[in-house]
Amino acid sequence: MTIQTKLLSGESGIRQTVELLKRGQCVAVPTETVYGLAADASNDQAVAGIYEAKGRPSNHPLIVHLANSDALPNWATNIPESVERLAEAFWPGPLTLLLRKAEHVSPTVTGGFETIAIRVPDHPVFHRVLAESQLGLAAPSANRYKKLSPTSADQVLNGMKGYISAVLDGGPCEFGLESTILDLTSTQPTIVRSGPIGRAALQKVLGCEVLLPKKHNVAVPGNVEAHYQPNARLQRVSQADMIQRSIDAQTAYVVCSTGMEKQLLDKGIGSTQIADLTTDPVTYAHDLYATLYQFDQLDFGEILVEATPETEDWAAINDRLSRAAT
Ligand code: TXA
Ligand code: MG
Repeated sequence: MTIQTKLLSGESGIRQTVELLKRGQCVAVPTETVYGLAADASNDQAVAGIYEAKGRPSNHPLIVHLANSDALPNWATNIPESVERLAEAFWPGPLTLLLRKAEHVSPTVTGGFETIAIRVPDHPVFHRVLAESQLGLAAPSANRYKKLSPTSADQVLNGMKGYISAVLDGGPCEFGLESTILDLTSTQPTIVRSGPIGRAALQKVLGCEVLLPKKHNVAVPGNVEAHYQPNARLQRVSQADMIQRSIDAQTAYVVCSTGMEKQLLDKGIGSTQIADLTTDPVTYAHDLYATLYQFDQLDFGEILVEATPETEDWAAINDRLSRAAT
């Protein structure tokens, strides 16, 4: 099935997006993390459309996005008192909270789980869509199943053209990596997906320890090991190995961070095949998916990524790179 995908923008784009969503269609929308594929979370058929467009198994739970935290009790129950403090500190923003779902919420959107993932995103265009539609919007990243998450409207079109009604262009995403997911349904708050908001910041607001498992729970469908994958084969290589090994200048693309461009050029690798994403994890995260996308457009080759530090401020990046390399 292919459908015509419209590229929307500006005031009329927001208006059309709201109309399409109210009619149960799927529209890709900008968020501050990555582009999301949105549909009315209270409409089972609309939500089924997300799974179909992505080619994603229907037992993979989705995040429900809200305009603000006022509507939280419509979606979740047994809300711990810590949510108010977290919302105050981090919403709108790249933090998703895992809570008990309210009884009436359809299992279609939670993948059959009794829990629900909720976030209040921080993007002016998406905020308008949420506020004007007055809907809770289910939205996974706007990519085909297991592929890279898009950080611009162009990247969405590239992967999803023919599968969705429209893309609402809101410019490039501020963070470039998916939100942090914090599970509040067990006795100890646990990060189930690393993201822009780190453990230290969460602990400061919560005043208690937050768990950060080395391996995220693969029992949750969607939290699978092979994910966030470019078409090219991606390999992580230590700095020393990158300098020593022979690299095929015909097919290899290199993502580095510690300024080894000169040594790579000396190996005969073209400057357009090298990206230096810097030693700052925020800048690195912002450019990572966009760079992998760009390299995927150029050729079907091999992408070598210089290993990044194993410290907590790199946790989200290391998580995505390890899945991209599986
Ligand atoms: O930044 C983001 O979070 C982006 C933007 C669009 O908001 N969304 C996003 O959604 O990354 P998605 O579907 O690509 O990843 C959400 C992950 C799922 O893979 C799943 O593991 C977890 O969130 N998740 C969602 N609901 C859950 C639930 N009820 N229980 C456990 N995990 C859940
Ligand atoms: Mg995703």
